[in-house]
Amino acid sequence: MAKSVTAFTCTACGAAHKKWAGRCDACGAWNTVVEEAPLSQGPGRGLGAAKGRSVPLSGLATDEPPPPRRQSGMAELDRVLGGGLVPGSAVLVGGDPGIGKSTLLLQGAAAFARIGLNAVYISGEEASAQVRMRAQRLGLVDAPVRLGAETNLRNILTTLDSERPDLAIIDSVQTLWSDTVEAAPGSVAQVRAAAHELVTFAKRRGVAILLVGHVTKDGQIAGPRVVEHMVDTVLYFEGERGHQFRILRSVKNRFGPADEIGVFEMTGAGLAEVANPSALFLSERGQPSPGSAVFAGIEGTRPVLTEIQALVAPSTLASPRRTVVGLDSGRVSTILAVLEARCGIPFTGLDVFLNVAGGMRVNEPAADLAIAGALLSAREDSALPPEAVLFGEISLSGALRPVAQAENRLKEAQKLGFSQAILPDGQKVEGVTTDRGGMGMRRIADLTGFVGE
Ligand code: TYD
Ligand code: MG
Repeated sequence: MAKSVTAFTCTACGAAHKKWAGRCDACGAWNTVVEEAPLSQGPGRGLGAAKGRSVPLSGLATDEPPPPRRQSGMAELDRVLGGGLVPGSAVLVGGDPGIGKSTLLLQGAAAFARIGLNAVYISGEEASAQVRMRAQRLGLVDAPVRLGAETNLRNILTTLDSERPDLAIIDSVQTLWSDTVEAAPGSVAQVRAAAHELVTFAKRRGVAILLVGHVTKDGQIAGPRVVEHMVDTVLYFEGERGHQFRILRSVKNRFGPADEIGVFEMTGAGLAEVANPSALFLSERGQPSPGSAVFAGIEGTRPVLTEIQALVAPSTLASPRRTVVGLDSGRVSTILAVLEARCGIPFTGLDVFLNVAGGMRVNEPAADLAIAGALLSAREDSALPPEAVLFGEISLSGALRPVAQAENRLKEAQKLGFSQAILPDGQKVEGVTTDRGGMGMRRIADLTGFVGE
């Protein structure tokens, strides 16, 4: 018999180690290497001892039409799923504790149940009575969702196998435990085994499975990254705790575009869909003020306007503060360096604070010009024209690069009453009226040109 070998795995990056170490040499994280029983002993080392069965192979052509996607009627959720729920798919929904994952999925389950899907909601975190109370508060009691409270993976799989639902929601994957794995619930080994079993079950039985996953401090779904690789779709539910906006973002989708977002507002009666996020994000805007720039962005397939706010103040610290919320801080450092080195505008001795209004996250390089605009406007204490939107990528030389989907950005800006765009010189724009009464275009080839004006 093969000797039983225990392995060690890093919970941060999933790297395998032969022995325990305080620090993972693959990703450099401390205290993340844990002992783990291997999933299977296998038929001897190198799979050499036993012969496998040959797998039938077939061509790419098929007569079978693809199974229809099902739309819940919650347009924001359907869009992020890539146009509806694909039967037999596995979806992971990650997010901070308390951000509203259970609320979102209970509302989603009810919406799918109301269009005739057989939906089952298994809660491992809350008792059935608690979930029922929440359903009552959300006005969902009439929806034919069936509810269960269980954490034992074997019992859950048996239930799903006999009930054969179209959709099963498991809240959350961290609470599940399997008696075949010798580790505590929530450990890497348990989370991985549970996710593996459920994803396999989804594919074999054609049941769509939505898994809830908590994220760690640094924003990754707890447990190894392999869970993200196993599922078809990974969605993150994000937002600032103090804000009412919540954004559901697809970071991976085998059945649709990634980076698509759905916008919700957390109200006393659950999550309300926000059909026009630009209007909502800009509604927080007050009088035109120094340090504010409106960025015409694209999230997935949809244009979204957001306000980027900057504050620049004299610092008393030896190394001044760079506080960035909702933007990539590496990107911000690069823009500050370009402003200093190429345009001769120093930020030494100055604290810099940057923020995206409404708790939105902006990851596009197209936001560079709006960030630079907000920084300059804050530093010079003079407001940008309130009727202008900005977009464009800044290269290390200070030159402005054109970005994708300029027309969509401009049309959205026009729809919201903006009459001027500040954009890269080389940007091609078609289908947007620019003459009298249309959009005014201020084209900039280089950041030094922008600073000079
Ligand atoms: P919840 O869905 O339990 O979060 P998660 O499953 O991600 O941990 O949501 C918890 C928060 O949402 C809680 O702080 C209260 C708030 N909330 C509302 O504001 N309105 C509501 O109708 C509901 C159900 C929750
Ligand atoms: Mg929850």
